[in-house]
Amino acid sequence: MDVEQILEDTYRAVRPLIGSGAVAEYIPRLAAVNPDQFGMAVVMNDGREFQVGDSLVPFSVQSMSKVLSLVLVLADHGEDIWRRVGREPSGAAFNSLTQLEYSRGIPRNPFVNAGALVVTDQLLTTKRQMSDFPVEQNPILDFVRQESGNPAIGLDSLVARSEAEHSDRNAAIAHLLSSFGNLQNPVDEVLEQYFEQCAISMNCRDVAVAVSFLARGGIRHDGTQLLSLSEVKRVNSVMLTSGFYDAAGEFAYRVGLPGKSGVGGGILAIVPGHCSICVWAPGLNASGNSLVGVAALDEFTTRTGWSIF
Ligand code: DON
Repeated sequence: MDVEQILEDTYRAVRPLIGSGAVAEYIPRLAAVNPDQFGMAVVMNDGREFQVGDSLVPFSVQSMSKVLSLVLVLADHGEDIWRRVGREPSGAAFNSLTQLEYSRGIPRNPFVNAGALVVTDQLLTTKRQMSDFPVEQNPILDFVRQESGNPAIGLDSLVARSEAEHSDRNAAIAHLLSSFGNLQNPVDEVLEQYFEQCAISMNCRDVAVAVSFLARGGIRHDGTQLLSLSEVKRVNSVMLTSGFYDAAGEFAYRVGLPGKSGVGGGILAIVPGHCSICVWAPGLNASGNSLVGVAALDEFTTRTGWSIF
């Protein structure tokens, strides 16, 4: 299959849409991003890489980082995290508060903000227990640098600060979690760590490389096994059912792959046993997922026939 050509065709097919959707206004620093950008990268399990458009322009990974925090917690502690967070689709917005009250502080899944805050809390606890891990270092930043082979990946502290200054909703979620005893660390510290991981800036190529262990049965670039085959299956399953919030069904219908979006306009998707994909276009649809990104993955998977179904 000529993946290069299919990527070019995908780019051509979505070009009329580029610029549509709305950039995330509630994080002012993200609202300033030029919406007329589009990039896509595919990393095959045999090591071949394909890219198109603005695939080397860094963007804010935002909720895509939630996949890596879940992975690191599962790698460190196995299944324990599921006592603190569910794995059911929420059918609600990523920043919804209402379900958390009914479920007495157990978030529906690790990808809504409430669930991601619990996972980040667990990561913070682990970091503090490891005497050799520098407290100021973000474990996710560390991981993506190692996994992508790009030590220049950084986190945009202006994005983190911009989110911290407009954090009423996430702070409300974190306080509600804490009121139910589902945070082990102080609310402010969990929020700070979470905003930091969301503010990591990466390009499509580096994201696709960094998450490719999810297409390779849990095997990292250095050949070590980060997750077991069954753990990878579980992470990919939760992405399929909850990676796109109230639009998870729509994404599964149109794309047919596990994936995770971020309000920076990025989407990562996994073709298990085959390849990892990252697409980026800043304009979002009403569910907070990249409008052109979803369209591009729809085109690409339709043209390649790559899907888990
Ligand atoms: O917590 C927030 O609202 C953002 N830092 C991340 C939300 C997000 O990316 C939702 N995904 N599409």
